[in-house]
Amino acid sequence: MEGKKRKAGIGNSKIRELAKQLYLNQTLPDKGLRELLEETDKEALDLLYGYARQACQLHYGKKIYVRGLIEFTNYCRNNCYYCGIRRENQKVQRYRLSKEDIYACVKEGYALGFRTFVLQGGEDIGYTAENIGEIICWVKQKYPGCAITLSFGEWDRDVYQYWFDCGADRYLLRHETADEEHYRRLHPVGMSLLKRMECLSQLKEIGYQTGAGFMVGSPGQTLEALVADLRYLQTLKPHMAGIGPFIPQKDTPFAKETAGTLSMTLKLLSIVRLMFPKILLPATTALGTIHPQGRELGILAGANVVMPNLSPANVRLKYQLYDNKICTGEEAAQGKNQLEERVRSIGYELCMERGDSKV
Ligand code: 5AD
Repeated sequence: MEGKKRKAGIGNSKIRELAKQLYLNQTLPDKGLRELLEETDKEALDLLYGYARQACQLHYGKKIYVRGLIEFTNYCRNNCYYCGIRRENQKVQRYRLSKEDIYACVKEGYALGFRTFVLQGGEDIGYTAENIGEIICWVKQKYPGCAITLSFGEWDRDVYQYWFDCGADRYLLRHETADEEHYRRLHPVGMSLLKRMECLSQLKEIGYQTGAGFMVGSPGQTLEALVADLRYLQTLKPHMAGIGPFIPQKDTPFAKETAGTLSMTLKLLSIVRLMFPKILLPATTALGTIHPQGRELGILAGANVVMPNLSPANVRLKYQLYDNKICTGEEAAQGKNQLEERVRSIGYELCMERGDSKV
């Protein structure tokens, strides 16, 4: 008993030192990062989360930013092994919202108080660049105070530039993994990590508030790959980072793989918060899917954004990137009051402002 206590104490002082170093210097040698990622002692991890919360509160107080997510198409030209809406998944009922459908979502969201709209979709060639441009222009004209975030995959630089000129403010494009070998394990030939990184650099150059990110616990992910993800974020310096657990989807090649864990995801959220104190970091729907209090725990580990779903109810079940995705209740935009209640229960408050990144 005594010995056990002492051992935990030693573990705590080590992790306390590492977390403190990360808090003060925003970086650690690879070895220190690996040690944090390997830590399992609950007390030690609570310390890490505490530092991350402190770093977040320094810049954002106890405000949690809210984004209205509109999943506007589940058609996709890509065939990523992990993703439920991959091209070869014949079981998906495909849908594509019309611009009128999208406008209705935005109107509803605006009335609910949302000031950021995230247009997310598969890489759907059923829309032209101009179709998307028209939607951006409409939203910006009708609601000039709102921010538009696109999350729509890889396109040519001139297309990114054109959407930016139409008024898009932000772009989310997770890099998924910064490790070449791991990237090959997750994506078929034809997709490339280099291209992905090129897109991210272009988005930043153009002037988008840019979000990268990765899944936690995807098949073949090693500690080295995670360290590479963190190093890549240090070079890119994104404004936002999307980090959530991998969750298998039954109609994909990864159906039988195991999901990423809550604790590994929370560790990464807090490490990313400490490395990038001002970053916008969502407590993702995937995190809320693997644990009933996942998003609250994410906030308590340093996350400061939530993205409730504004998609029309009749398409929500069709946007199944992974199994059992939560899509009723407080993760729906209409459940804002419940969401507010949850956030309050842990001492935070929802902030409905457009919430630009302070990076
Ligand atoms: N589990 C968790 N996240 C997934 N995504 C895609 N498929 C899955 C899955 N099976 C994530 C990817 C993508 C984002 C929109 O959703 O990281 O970038």
